[in-house]
Amino acid sequence: MADDGDLVLRAARPDDAEAIAALWHAGWRDGHAGHVPDELHRHRRLADFRDRVPPRLPTTTVGARDGRIVGFVTVHEDEVEQVYVAGPARGTGVAAVLLAAAERAVAERFDTAWLAVAVGNTRARRFYARNGWRDAAALDYPAEAGATPVVVACRRYEKRVR
Ligand SMILES: CC(C)(COP(=O)(O)OP(=O)(O)OC[C@H]1O[C@@H](n2cnc3c(N)ncnc32)[C@H](O)[C@@H]1OP(=O)(O)O)[C@@H](O)C(=O)NCCC(=O)NCCS
Repeated sequence: MADDGDLVLRAARPDDAEAIAALWHAGWRDGHAGHVPDELHRHRRLADFRDRVPPRLPTTTVGARDGRIVGFVTVHEDEVEQVYVAGPARGTGVAAVLLAAAERAVAERFDTAWLAVAVGNTRARRFYARNGWRDAAALDYPAEAGATPVVVACRRYEKRVR
């Protein structure tokens, strides 16, 4: 557990699942509406996020203020797979602290971390660039969507983490 001012970083617990799913559901629209194929929206209901959270809990770190989750990151191998901050906590530095935690997690086993960001998600792209990530390539990312993934036009960002 790490404490950054009033922000507490800690490993996600099973009883965090509902709060993470709600935050992810709301934040997904903010980052993706208009930037992904329409068909993906029907796979991004709250119920879908409730299904997607539990398998990720072992590799999820949450940021909490006053006991409430204000953001989370998830890693998968060398990929920083999810970075989400609740609306009111954006612009407060929480996102950079969470991203640094994900980079440390990847650095335990890999030299370079990568992530996929939708081409049109310019706020996230600026955030990654500000935090030392390099726009490395175009990437057609197969987003989870039931039996058949939906391909999303993304950019692949990379950062050396050790
Ligand atoms: C991407 C994300 C994690 C970045 O976190 P953040 O807190 O917004 O990042 P920053 O603090 O660097 O601020 C980003 C921008 O918002 C601006 N901003 C700061 N506070 C703000 C506020 N209260 N309201 C609106 N904009 C604000 C900043 O000036 C900055 O603008 P700029 O990019 O034009 O310079 C966050 O925006 C988020 O969760 N977005 C939705 C989910 C998402 O897209 N995740 C990434 C998927 S790849």
